[in-house]
Amino acid sequence: MNYVQYPSIFYSIFEPIMAGNSFGQLFKLTTFGESHGPAIGGVIDGCPAGITLDLEAIQRELNRRKPGQSALVTQRKEPDEVVFYAGIFEGKTTGTPIGFAIHNTNQKSRDYAHIKDSYRPSHADKVYDDKYGFRDYRGGGRSSARETASRVVAGAIAKQFLKSIDIQAYVSAVGPIALTKDHSTLDFSLTETNPVRCPDPEKATEMEAYIRRIRKEGDTVGGVISCVIKNVPIGLGEPVFDKLHAELGKAMLSINAVKGFEYGSGFAGAQQKGSEHNDQFNADGTTKSNHSGGIQGGISNGMDIYFNVAFKPVATIMQSQTTLDNKGKMVEMQGKGRHDPCVVPRAVPIVEAMAALVLADLTLLNRGTRY
Ligand SMILES: Cc1cc2nc3c(=O)[nH]c(=O)nc-3n(C[C@H](O)[C@H](O)[C@H](O)COP(=O)(O)O)c2cc1C
Repeated sequence: MNYVQYPSIFYSIFEPIMAGNSFGQLFKLTTFGESHGPAIGGVIDGCPAGITLDLEAIQRELNRRKPGQSALVTQRKEPDEVVFYAGIFEGKTTGTPIGFAIHNTNQKSRDYAHIKDSYRPSHADKVYDDKYGFRDYRGGGRSSARETASRVVAGAIAKQFLKSIDIQAYVSAVGPIALTKDHSTLDFSLTETNPVRCPDPEKATEMEAYIRRIRKEGDTVGGVISCVIKNVPIGLGEPVFDKLHAELGKAMLSINAVKGFEYGSGFAGAQQKGSEHNDQFNADGTTKSNHSGGIQGGISNGMDIYFNVAFKPVATIMQSQTTLDNKGKMVEMQGKGRHDPCVVPRAVPIVEAMAALVLADLTLLNRGTRY
């Protein structure tokens, strides 16, 4: 264990606190809560007044993320009902902080006794202990993806603020099974017709069978979520540090289990020549190709934004593994509890929510750009 040794005066300034619970500059979400505490929730500061909120649409988004929704996901049974406490009056946002909570009702904390003193390989257990010296191990505590339910609530509100901007995320790969079709040929009305959330029904069937097989083996598998954003106005994104793609990258990489982000031509673009990669203009200012992924110089150019997000296979497997305990001893650990064999079906609304939060924030920032 290596700690940087600072002079003791720094410790009084930098108490071990859990910072970084807020996202966004003007449209700002702060989340709170642990997996097995009484509730999770959030406060949205900076949401403009006067938006007529469709509360059922917010709940529908949460239902897309909730556990127990199909045989392919964790069987924790949570109603995941959001309750609003502030910032909404007569169905409209008031411009004051919007406070909300989702009560945890289906915790089985004893399923997690085995990780109180031992660390799941590739989960956050050990680094939380190293960093804070103490952790709520029940259900993974704050490191649980349960936290992302609050992001989905805030993202659903951001979507309603963004109105005509259309954000469509979908599963494009599960383990080795990947879509080969270009996103422009996909019918997004099919995404919600299968439990995988893949708009290609044939591939969806293959993906579903693969996840079921992996689950039976007590194992987990990774996947990719792709996202296409249409009707984006020109001008969102700031030119230096707060580039639109940098903000999207941070948003996506802040989602649990995410290991990769690429937008536009992404890593494939590195193999092309400029003469192949350049997006030639049409007379109306649109471009003939869109390798730029709708963003140039960090600013939206009005073309579709598209990106891919890679998720790892989750750490908790139902197989025996050798691991470390908090006394430094190697021990055998058998996975327990109710876990996702593959997170991508449930992460689709999370990707959309984070994209909506970025666009809402940059929309508000853009309002101060010109006289
Ligand atoms: C929707 C979703 C569900 C998840 N479910 C589980 C789970 O059931 N079990 C698990 O070990 N990890 C799960 N994870 C991943 C963990 O939250 C994540 O791996 C952990 O916080 C460590 O962070 P890292 O993988 O980003 O390093 C899930 C992630 C997402 C996005």
